Amino acid sequence: MKSYNLLENILFWPTFLSDKSLNNFLKGKTVLISGASYGIGEALAMRLSSSSCRLILVARTEEKLLEVQKKVQENGGDADIFAADLTVEAGLDKLIAYISSKPKGIDIFINNAGKSIRRSIYDSLDRFHDFQRTMALNYFAPVKLLLFLIPILEKNKGQIINVSAVNVLMVPAPKWAAYQASKTAFDQWMRSVSPELEVKGISTTAIYLPLVRTRMIEPTAAYSKMPAMQPEHVARIIAKSIYKKRRIFIPWWAMFGILGSVIFRRLWEWAVPINLKNK
Ligand SMILES: NC(=O)c1ccc[n+]([C@@H]2O[C@H](COP(=O)([O-])OP(=O)(O)OC[C@H]3O[C@@H](n4cnc5c(N)ncnc54)[C@H](OP(=O)(O)O)[C@@H]3O)[C@@H](O)[C@H]2O)c1
Repeated sequence: MKSYNLLENILFWPTFLSDKSLNNFLKGKTVLISGASYGIGEALAMRLSSSSCRLILVARTEEKLLEVQKKVQENGGDADIFAADLTVEAGLDKLIAYISSKPKGIDIFINNAGKSIRRSIYDSLDRFHDFQRTMALNYFAPVKLLLFLIPILEKNKGQIINVSAVNVLMVPAPKWAAYQASKTAFDQWMRSVSPELEVKGISTTAIYLPLVRTRMIEPTAAYSKMPAMQPEHVARIIAKSIYKKRRIFIPWWAMFGILGSVIFRRLWEWAVPINLKNK
């Protein structure tokens, strides 16, 4: 993992992980990671590769999944790969049929595949498809998968871990309408169904992340100089959430942002247009 600078060390406290607890918890379990070909999903696959669980790695890019699978196996792990585009019904149906063919199904679903778009609404007037494709991957795909998975997870007393963004808990920033609306939609869905799932023995976790240094943030030049978590650090947070069954992860400082979003909403709504006008 690349080292953090001073500010990043202050913002992103280390995560202490017990490999023993993780391994004991995961023994004999099957973990499905969506979006496992790059970034956070790849780092998580590597983090879990030394545990005695079976991984199912899902994404579109088969060659990259094969690379990750090879690295997992070289580390002593066990991984199947499944290449599918989760924005199309046929891809989701194929994945559902594949999971149905596994006698015990899966125990843990890591909803990590995600699509981010940063674009002004004035550059989006002829781009309805931006809103469709973010909703397709960030909202409809996990909803459809979970409608199928819930009975299996109930039988296995399983877990759902949603890789979300801290922004969904705060005042929305301009140019992020497509991404933020779709991530918020699934966050709300999960928060609404969680109590019912908990009663049936399925635990849920929401991981609210700040910026993470993956290819997702590469197109935004300004982010190259901003503090960002390393994907390997996020993988530790998710791994710990698995055996601790913690309900949420939020960076310590985000609480101030969430509170500020409520208290200073009017101030934000006054200041942001002035800032945009002066650019
Ligand atoms: N990076 C950040 O700053 C940040 C911050 C907050 C939250 N998050 C969340 O973290 C999660 C992981 O993002 P990341 O930063 O690791 O991004 P990433 O490096 O771009 O990885 C995204 C993953 O999703 C897969 N994916 C994309 N479209 C897909 C599709 N149509 N069907 C199936 N798989 C698809 C990608 O694989 P293929 O291209 O091979 O399909 C890739 O494995 C996302 O849910 C994101 O919203 C990221």
